[in-house]
Amino acid sequence: MSLFKLSPKNLMEKKGKEVIVGITAYDYISAKLAESAGVDFILIGDSASMVILGYEDTFPIDMEEMLIFCKAVSRGAPNVLRIGDMPFLSYQVSKKTAVYNAGRFVKEGRCHGVKIEGGEEIVEIVYAVTKAGIPVLGHIGVTPQRSIELGGLKVRGKDVETAKKLIKEAKLLEEAGVFAVLLECVPSEISKIITEEVKVPTIGIGAGPYTDGQILVFHDVVGLFPEMRPKFVKTYFKGFEVLKEAISTYIKECKEKIFPEEKHSFRLSEEILKELLLKK
Ligand code: KIV
Repeated sequence: MSLFKLSPKNLMEKKGKEVIVGITAYDYISAKLAESAGVDFILIGDSASMVILGYEDTFPIDMEEMLIFCKAVSRGAPNVLRIGDMPFLSYQVSKKTAVYNAGRFVKEGRCHGVKIEGGEEIVEIVYAVTKAGIPVLGHIGVTPQRSIELGGLKVRGKDVETAKKLIKEAKLLEEAGVFAVLLECVPSEISKIITEEVKVPTIGIGAGPYTDGQILVFHDVVGLFPEMRPKFVKTYFKGFEVLKEAISTYIKECKEKIFPEEKHSFRLSEEILKELLLKK
């Protein structure tokens, strides 16, 4: 499907009318599942660094890896709005590299836009990328790519100063042209204020019930990532346990010669078999 048949504008129009629901996806199957379930948008998140590549945080994942996931998602969910998450160091170095890498998400990754983490410090970058015609989803609150500076992934906006900063940043990002703002791990009251004060939709993860939309990580929704289960996650399926059980049964059946059965096997015709045996 042509990229321009879907637009972040469609999400913007949903503000105040319906709850916008997003999920992350990283490969053909997770994307296909998300599309067939009817999500409003897919984020190809840099959380792939942990849930797909097994790193401890989001720092190691790079552009080339992100683009592989974006391409797979575009094949699995051609009819859903897809946003690529700009990985660490793909936009911080200069506006030029930010625009170039954001462009790669569109050109090579077949994404309709990019997500960029950060507030005040990246406003100029957001301007530059949106000026290049690439829609940007802002991301404030807990921003894992700044977790070294912030001292971890703790809820942000619990004191007056940080709360004010978050509200200001949401407005600055709106001015810079973002089509929506993702709020990660902020108190519900703060996301309510931001949601009321900006015209673009707010998408929450750990941001309470008042945002215009919600997003969760695919592996958390289906219970495929038992290593980490943050408070804000709701898991709808015991994916890891159920799949593990299936694989254990497969191993057991092979060992006990229950699998493969006749119906899983290919057979020679009687004539060929006879001829073969005679020729021996
Ligand atoms: O990479 C990711 O999964 C995210 C979440 C906040 C949705 O950015």
